[in-house]
Amino acid sequence: MKPDGSKMEKIVSLCKRRGIVFPSSEIYGGLNSCYDYGPLGAELKRKVKNFWWQSMTQVHSNIVGLDSSILMHPKIWEASGHISNFTDPLVDCKKCKSRFRQDHLQSDTCPNCGAKDFTEARNFNLMFKTFMGPVENQGNEIFLRPETAQGIYVNYQNVLQSYRQKVPFGIAQIGKAFRNEITPGNFIFRTREFEQMEMQYFIHPSQDDESITRWKEIRFAWYEKLGISKENLRLHKHEGNELAHYAKEAYDIEYQFPFGWSELEGIHNRTDFDLQRHQKYSGKNLQYFDEQSKEKYIPYIIETSAGCDRSILCILSEAYTEEEDRVLMKFAPFIAPIQVAIMPLVKKDGLPDIADDLSKTLRKRHSIFRDDSGSIGRRYRRQDEVGTPFCITIDYESKEDHCVTLRERDSMEQIRIRIDDLENHLQEKLEFPLD
Ligand code: GAP
Repeated sequence: MKPDGSKMEKIVSLCKRRGIVFPSSEIYGGLNSCYDYGPLGAELKRKVKNFWWQSMTQVHSNIVGLDSSILMHPKIWEASGHISNFTDPLVDCKKCKSRFRQDHLQSDTCPNCGAKDFTEARNFNLMFKTFMGPVENQGNEIFLRPETAQGIYVNYQNVLQSYRQKVPFGIAQIGKAFRNEITPGNFIFRTREFEQMEMQYFIHPSQDDESITRWKEIRFAWYEKLGISKENLRLHKHEGNELAHYAKEAYDIEYQFPFGWSELEGIHNRTDFDLQRHQKYSGKNLQYFDEQSKEKYIPYIIETSAGCDRSILCILSEAYTEEEDRVLMKFAPFIAPIQVAIMPLVKKDGLPDIADDLSKTLRKRHSIFRDDSGSIGRRYRRQDEVGTPFCITIDYESKEDHCVTLRERDSMEQIRIRIDDLENHLQEKLEFPLD
């Protein structure tokens, strides 16, 4: 499939128009590559995070959660290698002054002006720096975390001891990360502030091949459950200098975005690199003691590192559909920002009262939207555009037969269903697919 720029433009425009994603600080002219999630975007993101959290913790009895701080001891970033290695090669075009990541250039020609005159590449550290306390000197320098993973590694023994875990076990975390990217872009794909959903799985070193194979399969299947088609997903193995400084083996789960195949999630065998380094830099013994075998060792770590915002862009790209006379977002029903729209045919004769009662019942479990105005056709179109999977219409007959019309978004099929049966019917269709 060829890159489709017009599809991206349509998605960005729909997101703005319907309150999914807004440019940040818009009344001040915006802030490059920063975005805010609007009412529907916040709901979509929350559901995706909840689905990830439940899929990773609730379903696996040996994986627990953590919520570590964004600001951490600066030595952590020395130990992790981020201070010396977390750099991108930066070049400037001497003619038009555009700035590029050297490793993203396709040739020796400037993509902006066509000149072939670049500055020497210089390594640019991607970590955002600030100061702790009122004095701005080198001793008070502190960093915004560029990945959530390190917060997990430095808490590995706390979790082990307080939760009485045994290897193999995992720690999951969702949180913000910050990178001073040289070339952010493609809407919410590459930004300087973003959210990660990371899980670190601690294993015996002999289990690394088996474990990375297992996590590749589990994570690939997670995107399929979200309704992403297999044809738009693929695994890319990192070779040679593609490998991050901490990884022995790494894979990207890639998605075919409208601008081409790009990384959605990284799955890495980080070996004992991080724990060895923290043991060295902190002076604390980070070995694990296996009570059964009496063996002492530093566990290996298999990491699954997903970008939440990239998952959202992938979901938006997959869902965006144009049909003859309508635009619809084919979100998987369980993550749709609005799951059920309730529409009394008219605003009188007791129909809004039935809608009120129904809303009260359904909103305990689902995201509900009441729409009382406009023709039913127009109300359906409005809901299609924000991906509402089910619309319920209450008409005059509902007063007599206690039934409503339930309309399904993709097929536009309408069935008549008893009000008393609605709750169970919807519950089945809107539950997270956990297994
Ligand atoms: N802890 C490992 C790690 O951070 P990574 O491959 O650098 O690995 C993991 O990042 C994921 O975080 C990526 O697959 C992507 O989804 C997301 N991510 C990384 N940089 C990003 C950025 N600038 N904007 C949005 N998401 C980003």
